[in-house]
Amino acid sequence: MIPGPVVARTREELHRALGAVDGVALVPTMGALHDGHAALIRRARKEVAQGGHVVVSVFVNPLQFGPGEDLDRYPRTLDADLGVCAAEGVDVVFAPSVDEVYPGGASAGAIAGAVTVDPGPVGGSLEGEFRPTHFRGVLTVVAKLLGLVRPDVAVFGEKDYQQLVLVCRMVADLCMGVRVVGAETVREADGLALSSRNRYLDERQRDQAAVLFRALHAGQQGARRGAEAALGAARGELRHAQAIDLDYLEVVAPDLGPAPAHGEARMLVAARLGPTRLIDNLPLQLGPGIAARTGL
Ligand code: PAF
Repeated sequence: MIPGPVVARTREELHRALGAVDGVALVPTMGALHDGHAALIRRARKEVAQGGHVVVSVFVNPLQFGPGEDLDRYPRTLDADLGVCAAEGVDVVFAPSVDEVYPGGASAGAIAGAVTVDPGPVGGSLEGEFRPTHFRGVLTVVAKLLGLVRPDVAVFGEKDYQQLVLVCRMVADLCMGVRVVGAETVREADGLALSSRNRYLDERQRDQAAVLFRALHAGQQGARRGAEAALGAARGELRHAQAIDLDYLEVVAPDLGPAPAHGEARMLVAARLGPTRLIDNLPLQLGPGIAARTGL
């Protein structure tokens, strides 16, 4: 039988579980673990020194949900998550309550009388235009988790690319002294990026959802002719998907600044299928062209 991880519900239990461990890698999650999380856990194991500990946090963070978003229906599957963590050889699962993380209380997008992390201008673009309080919530909880776990390295998925960029910025700008590693997105056979929210999709929506990857892939192919061509190619794919409501499709620099004329860039997309909102992104190599922003 595989020994399960130590489960810590409180700050004290966490500190006891970590004791004097030399080398800690943290994988922050909101639970509902899938193969994408399993890949992050395996990456964390590679990044930590031999004899070090891999810690997975499982916490559905109310502060990063806006009013009317899916906080209440977000899947909470701790028993299954512990099974995934056991199979992946995780040492400690930190699964605190909302009160443990926010002793003064917190609800969707709201917290009273506490210091929070301002994500700066990058937090207001792309996702930030549609979810104005989202990254304040994400960075605040990530700062708390880093403070509680004190890892040497923290692993985040590239699937939430803007989140990854902002966590890197926060750690650098606030001198937090932790190494942040980005891990490649894990995809289904048809290209759909694995996400805990995929389980909300009905059969028809699930079939259509793969168009996001096809659009990004077409963008990658078109990128040789520049950002406009990349966007045109991606839009061409999206036009076929009736059930998709596009929030944004953009080409930006890898640090989310304006896209360069040549060289590395990133294409990011967000769309709604019914009540479910999905995001995805891919790297691009741009030839001559200019940055542009568009809808369908
Ligand atoms: O990516 C997520 O699952 C969450 O945004 C994170 C980083 C665990 C913070 O709640």
